Amino acid sequence: MSSSSLNLPWWKKTTVYQIYPRSFKDSSGDGIGDIPGIISKLDYLQDLGIETIWFSPFFSSPQADFGYDVSDYRSIAPEYGSMTDCEKLIRDIHNRDMYVVFDLVLNHTSDQHPWFLESQSSRDSPKRDWYIWRDGRKPHGKKPPNNWKSMVGGSGWHYDEATEQWYWAQFLPFQPDLNYRNLDVKREMFDTIRFWLDKGVDGFRLDIINTIFEDEQFRDNPFAWNFFPSVEENKSFFQNKIHTINHPDNFLFVKELRSLLDEYSNPERFMVGEIHASIDTLKRYCGEVRSKTTTDGLHLAFMFQSLDVKLDVPSLLELVNLYDQNFQEPYTPTWVFSNHDQMRRINKLGSDITKAKLNATLQLTARGVPFIYYGEEIGMLNHKLPLKTAKDPIGRKYSWLPKIVISLLTRTGSISLNRDDCRTPMQWDQSPNAGFCSEDVESWLPVSPDHQSRNVTSEEDDPDSLLNCYRSLLRLRKNTPAIHSGSLVISSLSHNFESVLSYQRLHDNQTVEVWLNISEKHCRIDEMEQDAKLLFSTIHNATPLRESVLVLEPYQGVVLEYSQ
Ligand code: NOJ
Repeated sequence: MSSSSLNLPWWKKTTVYQIYPRSFKDSSGDGIGDIPGIISKLDYLQDLGIETIWFSPFFSSPQADFGYDVSDYRSIAPEYGSMTDCEKLIRDIHNRDMYVVFDLVLNHTSDQHPWFLESQSSRDSPKRDWYIWRDGRKPHGKKPPNNWKSMVGGSGWHYDEATEQWYWAQFLPFQPDLNYRNLDVKREMFDTIRFWLDKGVDGFRLDIINTIFEDEQFRDNPFAWNFFPSVEENKSFFQNKIHTINHPDNFLFVKELRSLLDEYSNPERFMVGEIHASIDTLKRYCGEVRSKTTTDGLHLAFMFQSLDVKLDVPSLLELVNLYDQNFQEPYTPTWVFSNHDQMRRINKLGSDITKAKLNATLQLTARGVPFIYYGEEIGMLNHKLPLKTAKDPIGRKYSWLPKIVISLLTRTGSISLNRDDCRTPMQWDQSPNAGFCSEDVESWLPVSPDHQSRNVTSEEDDPDSLLNCYRSLLRLRKNTPAIHSGSLVISSLSHNFESVLSYQRLHDNQTVEVWLNISEKHCRIDEMEQDAKLLFSTIHNATPLRESVLVLEPYQGVVLEYSQ
């Protein structure tokens, strides 16, 4: 059944904005963003038209991976605020009729978590089995137990001198993996989830959820020719990671999580999984069909195929079809172009605001849930920072690479080895620290110089700004059932025009049509239906529709509505 007449749950219709708390707004004067700072900007987000906010982790942590190394899942890191601040944040968001999503790092903890310290203290520790410990290879045990490589390259096994065993870490060495085959671990983490659900959290983003389980027999991963990780395949660093990524037990695990979340209603809660995988695998994580609008696995999974998609008709046509056809109701696609691990999308569009508007039009009008990364709405660019002084642990891991290798790796322009580049402070205004922190304070990462032209204050006043384009699109989406709930049909014209992508969104009696001119040239479409009404244009005050002719400027996007 198409979604055209279904009454969808809120989380399928919503728009999500990702906040990287360290970089959003500093209120305490230490150059680090914090929860009271975020609270002071909730009006901005509400006014922008955002419906759901996802926070990268602000739980207690040594911050070796800036929060993705948790040392207490039920308390707040002091640099971000207190539990009282956190509760106020949840309340204030709900008071604005918005939803709250927290980031759950289930796969691993920090090596400073008391559980790991206890686990590491002796082979007989009651928490020894909370992590994955193994003897090394014979005869002396000084070689890792098997050939498993971590996600970030190099062996994922790390030797502990004191207890003469190795522990497994899928990500960085200071992020030891929890052992979910131990039922106490599972119980504790499920209780943690309940703890936050009881506080009113509406959903979770699940960090690398496809790495929860590994092969129980610890068999070697087979060889593969692939070196660089890719979205489609589970192969990297010359290894086919069949025993460490997408283990069959993960698919059952997400169903258990789903049952837990289903215990809560009013509102319904949801999870979105961070999984770099093919569309088929993503769909498997979403589970089997349970009803017309639900499955029994993850509610949503990030679809990262869009990260590097080219801005041209064949590529986008293929992508829209891929997402829509494979994720028909009750599955829901997601639209994500940037996040705290990736080069910002606008850099891949030649820093071009006009193209960014077109990209946003696609993101907010295609079928699926859009995820907007903070600053994306004002066209914030990646700020190229030196690898040598990287704060990002991945950047630091690779900072020894010779310049020539770095330039070879980054030559396509879409890879950035230093994740600091996409995490610079939010640009609120033109002042020296962009309004992120006071001027006499040093911000934790340098403010990008592009804040002079790309910032909230200047863009608010400009009706033709990217910010105002996002604002209009978000409002349009919220108020238009065909866009937030309708089915999608690619217009046959898209196949005839080399430079135009067009699709319809249909819901009950409403028909909305999106036209995207993805080219440097003007485009004229004759014989449009007479009764079309212009709902939105990427160009402010444009009149692209005259009688039955539609004329689009280069890279212009429009949304039309047909009356029945
Ligand atoms: C994925 C997160 O997005 C990334 O920022 C983090 O470093 C790793 N998982 C490890 O938790």
